[in-house]
Amino acid sequence: MPERIHNFGAGPAVLPLSVVQAVGDALPNLMDSGFGLCEISHRSGTFQSVVDSAMERVRRVLSVPDDYTVLFLQGGASLQFYMTALNILKDGEKADYLVTGGWAKKALKEAGRVGDATAIWDDSENGFKSVPANGDYTVREDAVYVHYTSNNTLYGTQYHHLPDSGGKPLILDASSDIAGVPIDVSAHEIIYAGAQKNLGPSGVTLVILSPWAMERCGADLPTMLDYNVHASKGSLFNTPNTFGIFVLDQVFKWLEDNGGLEGSIARNRAKANLLYQELDRSNFWAPHAEMDSRSVMNVTWRLSNPDLEPVFLEEAESAGLGGLKGHRSVGGIRASLYNGCPLESVIALVAFMQDFESRHA
Ligand SMILES: Cc1ncc(COP(=O)(O)O)c(C=O)c1O
Repeated sequence: MPERIHNFGAGPAVLPLSVVQAVGDALPNLMDSGFGLCEISHRSGTFQSVVDSAMERVRRVLSVPDDYTVLFLQGGASLQFYMTALNILKDGEKADYLVTGGWAKKALKEAGRVGDATAIWDDSENGFKSVPANGDYTVREDAVYVHYTSNNTLYGTQYHHLPDSGGKPLILDASSDIAGVPIDVSAHEIIYAGAQKNLGPSGVTLVILSPWAMERCGADLPTMLDYNVHASKGSLFNTPNTFGIFVLDQVFKWLEDNGGLEGSIARNRAKANLLYQELDRSNFWAPHAEMDSRSVMNVTWRLSNPDLEPVFLEEAESAGLGGLKGHRSVGGIRASLYNGCPLESVIALVAFMQDFESRHA
């Protein structure tokens, strides 16, 4: 088998090797039940213990308040763009969106199907190089909530502060930085995140809801889009992504075994600092994000000579560094440094970059 590459893909993303190995062990026989991981009923006691464990670990690692609800859903973060608005907004009600990138734009579009969803800040003309400072926008007085995207996966920008919502409830898409950066769950009414970057494989979406959010959930919604339905059945209303929930539990176990959220934050900062140091060292590189909006999870840059970008990507791949191509809407290079990406991968990337520069400058 060829060696595992240094994987900088934006998602589905690299997982800690010990998690991958635990999944391998569980595939033929989950927790000595005799049933394989992908072959066991979601109604079995064995699988119930997996769900319970995953929910408890999520609560512990992210310090989720006791009265908040934790759900494991399907449909990705993209379904949550619609589902949050559908459950929270009543006829004619308003919601304000901070548009810091392509995913925020999509969230706004889906909410617009339900109510009066408006971008109160939109950085598209500036090429999504920054996130707003408090005071850069005005929340409408009659807005029911403010929605933001903590990390802009495509462009590599990230909030390093809690956005001021003017006292309105905050709804957060944390898909690409959950459990990788500091988070105050109690400051939010809904947080959602697709698992496939920092938490596990694709196909399972973590949703955390406050009592306020649960109370506002509209009656008579389509069954599968109703948070109350999923909450009342402990995320087992219908067949969940059993595989995904198991892997998510293993990732949270790994987080707990490695210093919890604090450990994760420290590792991610160290990785990002190393890479930004290299990007700032030489004009050969042209980092995309403005300094105070730089993401620790997705680092994006161009080469000062863009003609060299395909060469960079090709040579990187041959050197065992994969998944570095920037998103098609941005171009250039993107290194995703999610929880599962080890420091050694970033050290290898920086060494490659210095060697590349010495040969092509
Ligand atoms: C910030 C953010 N939100 C939403 C999505 C969409 O997630 P999904 O593919 O799970 O629907 C992504 C995917 O990359 C993302 O990065």
